[in-house]
Amino acid sequence: MSTAAALPASIDETQARLLEHDYVASRELATTVFLALRLQRPLFLEGEPGTGKTEIARTLAAALGRPLIRLQCYEGLDLAGAAYEWNYARQMLEIRLAEASGQERDRLSSNLFSRRFLIERPLLQAIDPHQSVAPVLLIDELDRADEPFEAFLLEVLADFQITIPELGTIKATHPPIVVLTSNRTREIHDAVKRRCLYHWVDFPDAQRELAILQRRVPNAPLALARQVVDFIQRLRGVELYKLPGIAETIEWTRALLELDALVLDPATLQNTLGVLLKYQDDIAKVQGSEAARLLAEVRTATHGA
Ligand SMILES: Nc1ncnc2c1ncn2[C@@H]1O[C@H](COP(=O)(O)OP(=O)(O)O)[C@@H](O)[C@H]1O
Ligand SMILES: [Mg+2]
Repeated sequence: MSTAAALPASIDETQARLLEHDYVASRELATTVFLALRLQRPLFLEGEPGTGKTEIARTLAAALGRPLIRLQCYEGLDLAGAAYEWNYARQMLEIRLAEASGQERDRLSSNLFSRRFLIERPLLQAIDPHQSVAPVLLIDELDRADEPFEAFLLEVLADFQITIPELGTIKATHPPIVVLTSNRTREIHDAVKRRCLYHWVDFPDAQRELAILQRRVPNAPLALARQVVDFIQRLRGVELYKLPGIAETIEWTRALLELDALVLDPATLQNTLGVLLKYQDDIAKVQGSEAARLLAEVRTATHGA
């Protein structure tokens, strides 16, 4: 009854399988993914926002035919939000019903802490021993959670098991494929990183970014796509508070298509900077002469290309 696809047998196959699902991975990333799968180690991806970290987990799930279970981290995330919680409201109701029907105390209390009253959050779902196929578990933006949460996570990652005092230990039959991401707003503890294979997801070079763009916005004319990529690559050389990621490249190209732009021109560029840059200081810095300079360079570079 398992529908999971076999793991890739080589780095080339890893890269090809990701590409089938429109993910253009660098050789380095494909190598780390391949090894993480073969060695059954969690994959730890760190990098600027919008560089394709979350997407790799989605793509892996699709390419390997596994369900994706996502734990989005946030400040204050705790055991109850990440692993499980008892459904107090249902338990109370059960007590009322038991009282009304005159049920014995002992039977009631053992009944109250059964799985029926357990609310399963992503970590517990991911290690559910009854699953026929091990899922991909995405622990997204771990840097947003508080540090104590990492200690708890460490335990889960070590044995893929969670002990619930009232119920016992729940352990995965097949360990999930784990992807952790961080936008590096703070350092993640060494102990977590040590358990994982690490990859820094960098901005792509121009060639890979063009390949990504052609996959994600296939209707964009090649001349426009080249100019967009060349402009973004140059823009990343400017000292900005927040550099545009691949997400912005894709978004900007879609915006330009909406405006029927066939090539980049100064007016369209000025008017669409807000798609690329999300901080007023950055926009103020690029607007005007800086944008004109970059555009002139782009035009020279892509002329006749
Ligand atoms: N290597 C890639 N190949 C194809 N698409 C990519 C790639 N990297 C990023 N993308 C696109 O960029 C968008 C942003 O990526 P995402 O994974 O959300 O970034 P992050 O999680 O690093 O902030 C995604 O919607 C995806 O379509
Ligand atoms: Mg993300």
